[in-house]
Amino acid sequence: MQTLLGIDLGTTGVKAALFAVEDGHVIADAFFEYPLFHPHPGWAEQNPSDWWEATISAIRLCLKEGASKGAAAEDVRGLGLSGQMHGVVLLDSNQHVLRPCIIWADQRSDAQCRWITEKVGASNLIQYVSNPALTGFSAPKLLWVRDNEPEIFAQARTMLLPKDYIRYRLTGVLAMEISDAAGTCLLDVKHGNWSQEVLAALELNPSLLPPVVPADAASGSITAEVAGLTGLRAGTPVAGGGADNACGAVGNGVVEPGLALVSVGTSGIVLAHSNSPQVDTSGPVPRVHTFNHAVPDAWYLMGVTQGAGLSFRWLRDNIGLPERALERWTGIDPYELLAKEAESIPAGSEGLIFLPYLQGERTPHLDAYARGGWIGLTASHDRRHLVRSVLEGVAFSLKDCYAIIQEQGLQLNQVRATGGGAKSPLWRQIIADVLGVELVVTNASEGPAFGAALLAGVAGGAYSTVQEACARTVQVVQRTAPDTALAPAYEQAYEVYKALYPALKPIISRPL
Ligand code: XUL
Repeated sequence: MQTLLGIDLGTTGVKAALFAVEDGHVIADAFFEYPLFHPHPGWAEQNPSDWWEATISAIRLCLKEGASKGAAAEDVRGLGLSGQMHGVVLLDSNQHVLRPCIIWADQRSDAQCRWITEKVGASNLIQYVSNPALTGFSAPKLLWVRDNEPEIFAQARTMLLPKDYIRYRLTGVLAMEISDAAGTCLLDVKHGNWSQEVLAALELNPSLLPPVVPADAASGSITAEVAGLTGLRAGTPVAGGGADNACGAVGNGVVEPGLALVSVGTSGIVLAHSNSPQVDTSGPVPRVHTFNHAVPDAWYLMGVTQGAGLSFRWLRDNIGLPERALERWTGIDPYELLAKEAESIPAGSEGLIFLPYLQGERTPHLDAYARGGWIGLTASHDRRHLVRSVLEGVAFSLKDCYAIIQEQGLQLNQVRATGGGAKSPLWRQIIADVLGVELVVTNASEGPAFGAALLAGVAGGAYSTVQEACARTVQVVQRTAPDTALAPAYEQAYEVYKALYPALKPIISRPL
């Protein structure tokens, strides 16, 4: 059986999944967690060595399971990489990691964002890299290291993104794949190469950045050492792959105009395919990102909710303690139990509103310092309201993203839903109701790992284009229609939600 292996290096852990070339069905998968460190409020770091060890374990376990089902490791036609965006991995001249990776969620680089905007000029920045400087992106993080850890920066020879570091370990090739490179704030997104203007203005040596490689072509191949570690054939091609959101889009067939994706992972996103690198011009600063897609000559517009699944996880870990304890004895998923409770509460949570700004917010506020909270609590609310309002608050934040994307004039014919959060029937229904749009679910149950595998299939010649790969393997399996009867309740709650951030900004937006 001819197969493809997809790897998704997420925030909580890494997934390896094996798919059949023929129709994309899942043969085997494996998931390994790794820690996330918050050494200071607002900081978020991970160790690349933890990613690497977890990746090797996940590949081994996945291939073992595959072999037990008749899919031999030697028959893997290609491997594709997907991963969390924007993290900065710094390597020295011997390709050793110099410090923990400052990941996408880290908010420490506000001063560097202001400096970048001043040095390059706000409108020049949009012209050169199609995006403003945001703490989420890579360049401000890199400059934070230069400003605060000069002895480390002086040793840095290469900057890589998380999945591109894994590429280096798998193949020995130093490269940055285009859809991920788009999130550095250093890539000329319109033309797909490093912006010499921005690099010069920021006094950054261009040699820090490896070559930009396409998503759907081979960027290297599995080394003999990795073959020994995993059972993969030495020489197995490794495709460029893509940023997690780009791969999520590919895996869900969001590879042509008219299609959009809502993803609820640790972060939440709303993404719409575009055939041109158009930029949000409806506000003074673009509030949605313009990034290169993993589809050649295509882009997407994307709004980001920093704390989507993260908010629900926080709730589970701090308020769902009985459910967590029960899980240990019964194996029942605490998220399911909590969602069940929330079901009994009416839409709008009887006036309780949750602001999901647990790690600042991107769309629409672009505010690294925003803080979250519950507003509108009364003595008649109980724990069920807390849960429901979290699910609703994230949905309201996604509506903010969706509304800005709609303002850009893109015709959206279908919205597909993905990510762990969207697997919850209640949360998916709430999002469909709040957005007022039908959500379509595809067979891409493995998320971005599936998109990464399809890109590997194109790179290895199993499919001729990304679109063909999707046409052959992606099917709609479920539809969630919005409940129009609930629209007035949600509209009312959303109006309150929207009014809260501007009203509370002086109090809830404070340096960490
Ligand atoms: C997108 C972003 C997040 C990460 C999370 O800009 O920062 O979605 O990619 O994995």
